Amino acid sequence: MSKEGFTLWFTGWSGAGKTTIAMAIEEELKKRKMGYVQRLDGDLVREYLCHDLGFSKEDRNENIRRATFVAEMLSKNGVITLVSFISPYRSLREYARIRCHNFTEIYVKCDRDILIERDVKGLYKKALANEISEFTGISDPYEEPLNPELVLDTGKEEVSESVNKVIKYLYEEQLI
Ligand code: ADX
Repeated sequence: MSKEGFTLWFTGWSGAGKTTIAMAIEEELKKRKMGYVQRLDGDLVREYLCHDLGFSKEDRNENIRRATFVAEMLSKNGVITLVSFISPYRSLREYARIRCHNFTEIYVKCDRDILIERDVKGLYKKALANEISEFTGISDPYEEPLNPELVLDTGKEEVSESVNKVIKYLYEEQLI
């Protein structure tokens, strides 16, 4: 059982593996009976809670503000909260850091060429063809974390390696 709630905030480009890693960590924490775990995922939150928002800077920031509101309530009430959003702007990640309980920023990094080659959702192809505008990394900015607690390079490491790094970190920090 975890001692208290905490927040793992996964940031990085679309398709880098934020959700995949968060899901694997959720499974691992449940297997170890660490308590309540809730994931908040960009794609799902945008479908239900932020349907009115697009991808301008203002809308992305509003998206993160709403996600932070939920993550804050969960993490302060003992829930292990796993948040995966591109969250491209430093200022809003800092906003989340201040509010969420036991905040850990995890930069899920991957080389641009690999993301374009993988293109799981087919979005890079469209963005490169100008069929989607304001696409992170192609036609919209991503401000790299300056001091993240963890960096996971999914172009170089397997999902299991990334998961092990996070679990090790959580033990070291005595969060679990
Ligand atoms: S954030 O920038 O506001 O944090 P969020 O993580 O919620 O973004 O949503 C990103 C997801 O929306 C991507 O994984 C992708 O599936 C989809 N998407 C659609 N259009 C865009 C776009 N212009 N830029 C980035 N992602 C987009």
